[in-house]
Amino acid sequence: MSEPTSMDSLLDDGRRFPPPPAFVATAVAPADIYERAQSDRLAFWADQSRELLHWHTPFTETLDFSGAPVARWFGDGELNVAYNCLDRHVEEGRGDRVALHFEGEPGDQRSITYAELTTEVKKAANVLSQLGVKAGDRVIIYLPLIPEAVVAMLAVARLGAIHSVVFGGFSAESLRARIDDAQATMVITADGGHRKGSVFPLKTAVDQAIADGATTVKNVLVVRRGGNDVEWTEGRDIWWHEQMDSASHEHTAEAFESENPLFILYTSGTTGKPKGILHTSGGYLTQAAFTHKNVFDLHAESDVYWCTADVGWITGHSYVVYGPLANGATQVIYEGTPDTPHPGRWWEIIEKYGVTIFYTAPTAIRTFMKLGREIPQKFDLSSLRLLGSVGEPINPEAWMWYREVIGGGVAPIVDTWWQTETGAIMISALPGITATKPGSAQVPIPGISIDVVDDSGAHVGRGAGGLLVVTEPWPSMLRGIWGDPERFKETYWSTFENVYFAGDGAQLDADNDVWLLGRVDDVMNVSGHRLSTMEIESALVAHPMTAEAAVVGANDDTTGQAVVAFVILKSRYVGSESDQELEKQLRTWVGEQIGPIAKPRTVFIVQELPKTRSGKIMRRLLRDIAEGREVGDTTTLTDTSVIRTINTSVND
Ligand code: WTA
Repeated sequence: MSEPTSMDSLLDDGRRFPPPPAFVATAVAPADIYERAQSDRLAFWADQSRELLHWHTPFTETLDFSGAPVARWFGDGELNVAYNCLDRHVEEGRGDRVALHFEGEPGDQRSITYAELTTEVKKAANVLSQLGVKAGDRVIIYLPLIPEAVVAMLAVARLGAIHSVVFGGFSAESLRARIDDAQATMVITADGGHRKGSVFPLKTAVDQAIADGATTVKNVLVVRRGGNDVEWTEGRDIWWHEQMDSASHEHTAEAFESENPLFILYTSGTTGKPKGILHTSGGYLTQAAFTHKNVFDLHAESDVYWCTADVGWITGHSYVVYGPLANGATQVIYEGTPDTPHPGRWWEIIEKYGVTIFYTAPTAIRTFMKLGREIPQKFDLSSLRLLGSVGEPINPEAWMWYREVIGGGVAPIVDTWWQTETGAIMISALPGITATKPGSAQVPIPGISIDVVDDSGAHVGRGAGGLLVVTEPWPSMLRGIWGDPERFKETYWSTFENVYFAGDGAQLDADNDVWLLGRVDDVMNVSGHRLSTMEIESALVAHPMTAEAAVVGANDDTTGQAVVAFVILKSRYVGSESDQELEKQLRTWVGEQIGPIAKPRTVFIVQELPKTRSGKIMRRLLRDIAEGREVGDTTTLTDTSVIRTINTSVND
């Protein structure tokens, strides 16, 4: 484990932004919310759950942690997650409210009310159950960000089955690994989706992923979106629209127990194999809805909310699907990239729909900063009243730009820290209460207990760096790693006794506010997406030309970190082609093996790698090289001339 780097330069420069008075006057979170949560944490969560959700069978027990580290929240209660996100809004008279304003990349649009979305999900649930999907089955969803992705997730949830959404940018290989690990019986995909002005195929990757006769997949449901040609396997492949056209509109949601699994979402860990993070129903939905309502100060009857995440990531699960829909929010979803067909597309969408709450990632903000404020300034962004940030630390400079240029100098910014594993926001300001600070995620949300500790698990003082831990179980915590209980314990619960180890470095400032300092393990954060150094190394060494490879995350002004690879070639390939040509081949290979997001920014072909006497690659030194720094302490290196050799190859 490497030490978190100190970020003194980023720490508190004294700027404070108290909530605007008008904001305080109508704030959703009551002023005494922290005290209420503190006085009785479990009673607080039980109250939230009863208030925010409909329980078919009310729970009597809030938390059972006797099976630690696997928690049971609201264990004897029963609910249906999809009913909570849909039917009850219709039954309570909110059926005409728009749930989704969908904007396709080519410019097509659809506004879907809660009544319509409920009907679509009922039909889809009927389609799935006719095809044999039942509670507990795993269904892979591999779709662009179109309304059908939301419908598919909710239909699976409605049946008590388990979805595993795979981001459309992942390759056939990555898809295959997830299908196999989850032993999925169905894949829901599309012919293709729109991205950067062209159609990217999805069905082709599914065909490749399940070409092997041993696959567990029985059916592939295909949404028509791209209009591109697809190959068809009779008996296995089925058009979504054909089934939906004839499906019954009637479907009664059955109640499932609170701990019924809701989804598995694969994320990168420190080893080569992605882990399937398991989330369940009642606790997850409680915290997703609670945080969505209080952190984003949601006034569901008047706000237009937009979170730019894809449903392939946890942010899309909790803050596009489950949180907003449980709260009856009206939201925008957009299929494409921010710069298609012009670099002002996002701002145009905000103006068009009158978006009031906007949630995105620092990497996007930094990209727009580079393009210049003239672009957003062409649009009317005055509807925005709250901004959110997620995925990586937001540097104060980007924070200030976000506030001034996008938020008109008034909209509060909430910097939200959380993870796939935590399921929902854990650390964030509450915008009607907290005076915000550029660069700090600040305080745990009410009902959450965190700490910053040293290597021995002792609380560090204010101003000192340490490791972030969560000290009490929380409702939306992961319930395990699919099929691997040992890895679950080992990864999160073995560093310190009885506390959850997040893998992030952190520091407390003089006000006790939290500053996140990045990962302390081999996980990289590129544009807010998690990638594992090991996973990319495994992909690189799987290439026939590669003898050895080491990957590091180097600082990058726009993407936060960037993937930099150092590769030693097998001797017969040395000098076989130019380094540029070899680099191109290796980058393409990683794109095929994992997905375009994992392609290294740079591949250095080197003759040696720096190793300790015990044979461990010294990534710290490689990071120095990748970031163009003077190489640090090399005393544990077997052979110091290695660095000279690498530097020569790098600077060639
Ligand atoms: C990082 C995304 C600083 C962190 C929701 C964490 C952040 C990892 C922040 C989880 C933030 C997320 N400030 N760092 N506001 N939000 N991170 O699982 O390193 O894709 O461990 O979940 O992103 O990434 P994941």
